[in-house]
Amino acid sequence: MSALGSFLADIKEIRRRARQHLIAGAITPNYGGKVEDAIALLNHAVATEIVCVLRYKFHAVCATGLASEAVKEEFAQHAKEEAEHLDLLAERINQLGGRPDLNPDRVSARAASEYVEGENLVDMIKENLIAERIAIETYRDMVRYFGDKDSTTRVLLERILAQEEEHANDMHDLLVSHEGPPMLPPRDRE
Ligand SMILES: [Fe+2]
Ligand SMILES: [Fe+2]
Repeated sequence: MSALGSFLADIKEIRRRARQHLIAGAITPNYGGKVEDAIALLNHAVATEIVCVLRYKFHAVCATGLASEAVKEEFAQHAKEEAEHLDLLAERINQLGGRPDLNPDRVSARAASEYVEGENLVDMIKENLIAERIAIETYRDMVRYFGDKDSTTRVLLERILAQEEEHANDMHDLLVSHEGPPMLPPRDRE
């Protein structure tokens, strides 16, 4: 059978299957991988985002000193964006037929990033940079995991990953402007 012929024959079979298992909603039989694993992984990311929202919010409120106004604004903006990531992940879990786990008792145990208050402005910036680097590494691993198994989730994670890289870059720039340039690579490596 030609490629077109077999595609058209497949369509009949796909139409038949679509009428079955309506309870599965958007999850069709050709979903790659295990949907329970996908939901569990996404719930880890949910926990990480919650911790990031709380840490940035604390920093946005508690950063003090003349030099801190612009930094406070940046922290507040990041808190807002982390909350958007949380919404996107929770919506995706729901689409996959799962339940976003927002239970505070379980959140900190599951989060990859840590809630560190920091003693001063530079400490706060450093802690955020560390948390962003953790987020970047975990999202990059998740993007690889989802690959072509679940391209919708992968694309969502790629969008979030790109924003975490911007966040890390923002924190790096703030650190350099508040602590001087030791974080920059030596000239001969540029
Ligand atoms: Fe985030
Ligand atoms: Fe971030």
